Parts: sequence; structure tokens; C-alpha cells
Amino acid sequence: MSPTRIRVASVGDVPPGEGRVVEAAGRTLALFHVDGRYYATDNACPHRGGPLGEGDLEGTVVSCPWHAWRWDVTTGANVNNPAVRTPCFPAVVEGGEIFVELG
Ligand code: FES
Repeated sequence: MSPTRIRVASVGDVPPGEGRVVEAAGRTLALFHVDGRYYATDNACPHRGGPLGEGDLEGTVVSCPWHAWRWDVTTGANVNNPAVRTPCFPAVVEGGEIFVELG
């Protein structure tokens, strides 16, 4: 089955080096802007559900605002324990709009 592509934001809604919480087909995602590219993960931190889209982004690493677990937004891997992952979704830009592909 081909993935469902959902528009989640416009380019400019997410400043470089920041994240936002967005909705896609009833799912809450975190959308990050790193060096002109966009990355989407589940918004809920796998630890206890903290909002990753509200965390501080440094390079490709977001710190959960609740207990500061750190996640690589390009892979979903936990920085300290890469065996622990948060789901990631491909994000693409077309015509100034950002789309996320849900599997
Ligand atoms: S909920 Fe994210 S680190 Fe605890």
C-alpha cells in the first residue's frame, strides 16, 4: 500500500533549528527544521509521552522538555541508547508546503 501523504505545515511555519507540534490524520507529530530539511517523529516521547515538538533542538538532536531524554530527529534513535527509538516519518516539501508520509 502506498503511504498517505498529509500536509502538516507551510515552509516558514517552522523556523530553522526549531520544532513544532503538528496534526496529521488524527495523529500528533513533531516536525523539525534542520538546515533546510524537515524531519517528523511521533510527538509523544517514548519515555512518558512528553511533547518532543516543544523540546529544544540542537543540530539534529531534540531534548524532551519533560525529562531531557535526547533523540536524533533524523533516525528517531535515543542518543544515549540507540536501541530505543521513536517512530519517524518521511517529510517532503512541495510548492512551499510540508507533507508527511504516514506508512
Ligand atoms: S517524557 Fe520524555 S524524557 Fe520523560
